[in-house]
Amino acid sequence: MHVPLINLRRLYEDLKPDIDAAIGSVLNSGRFILGDVVAQLEQTLAHYVGTSYALGVASGTDALLLALRVIGVGQGDFVITTTFTFFATPEVIIRLGATPIFVDIEPQTYNMDPEHLDIVIKHLPPSVRSRLKAIIPVHLYGQSADMDEITGIATKYGVPVVEDLAQALGAEYKGKKVGSFGLLGGVSFFPTKNLPAFGDAGMIFTDDSTLYEKIKTYRIHGATKKYYYPDWGYNSRLDAIQAAILSVNFKHLEEWNERRKAIAAKYDAKLQAVVETPAKKHDRTHIYHQYTIRTPERDNLRKFLQEKGIETAIHYPIPCHLQPALSYLGYRGGDLPVSEKVSKEVLSLPIFQYLSEDEVDYVIDTIVGFFR
Ligand SMILES: Cc1ncc(COP(=O)(O)O)c(C=O)c1O
Repeated sequence: MHVPLINLRRLYEDLKPDIDAAIGSVLNSGRFILGDVVAQLEQTLAHYVGTSYALGVASGTDALLLALRVIGVGQGDFVITTTFTFFATPEVIIRLGATPIFVDIEPQTYNMDPEHLDIVIKHLPPSVRSRLKAIIPVHLYGQSADMDEITGIATKYGVPVVEDLAQALGAEYKGKKVGSFGLLGGVSFFPTKNLPAFGDAGMIFTDDSTLYEKIKTYRIHGATKKYYYPDWGYNSRLDAIQAAILSVNFKHLEEWNERRKAIAAKYDAKLQAVVETPAKKHDRTHIYHQYTIRTPERDNLRKFLQEKGIETAIHYPIPCHLQPALSYLGYRGGDLPVSEKVSKEVLSLPIFQYLSEDEVDYVIDTIVGFFR
């Protein structure tokens, strides 16, 4: 048997008539960038997440980039984030001329450790503290970070929070959806995400009307009216075809997240005797963008699963603070020990809404067989 990490062909085959009709209607409209389909999707998703506004942009990376830009992050500034994230998170900080400062993670959930966040800020020299412009928690693998603690610390130091919810659309913390806690939040609709586009796409969430108006101009080169640019911006719009596909897929998001939870529950029950299964905190939901186990046997297990036809992935093999591109920051091995240890032991298993029961059983039996 071959078990893929994800197979979007299955999604398209299931929803083909609706997706084809949605694409056809955009083609017939002759309007391919922004427009009514995008505006409608923005309204739907703002309502879903619980913010006043949402703005479609070209990718999840751009969502974070524009979010930081409109709050004034620039040359010589500093932004704190977790080291255990996809590289796009620190990359947007660098692209604005600012410097990322990394915080370690909790050993169970792998999300930003609020205690370490507080320590890191406390020890910043005054010249850095005064130029600290944002804190970016990442809701890793589909589970919210500790938002009460993180927003509490952010308020204490007077620094805004920008949420990276690329992996967590629909996840809740104390009954509220992620993306509604920070001053701004950015989501990705990369095809492997829980709400997939069939190409690159992203969205920004906020309650702030001034920032909303600003982003509306910054995604069209900074223009406040046609061919008039008080500031430079970006070409970062959501394509109407992607918005149409997202509108079809969004109708299934809750049901798909439930299916992921059901697969995770089955994995949990059968695998917890042999590996560390994902920790789920009681006051939040986990939508299992990734189902990531932990074992010191990671590399051997991965090789064994590959031989048995099961695809896996490592999210992430090198924490951001040790990436070669960021060596100029001067971090060294041992600086953020939890992330460094976890990166050697985590393994993401196949989990997506169209995984069959037989495939799930095969993954379970093969892993249990490896440890027997
Ligand atoms: C945590 C995180 N942040 C940011 C991104 C960037 O999103 P995109 O690939 O849509 O640019 C991703 C996903 O790829 C991600 O997983």
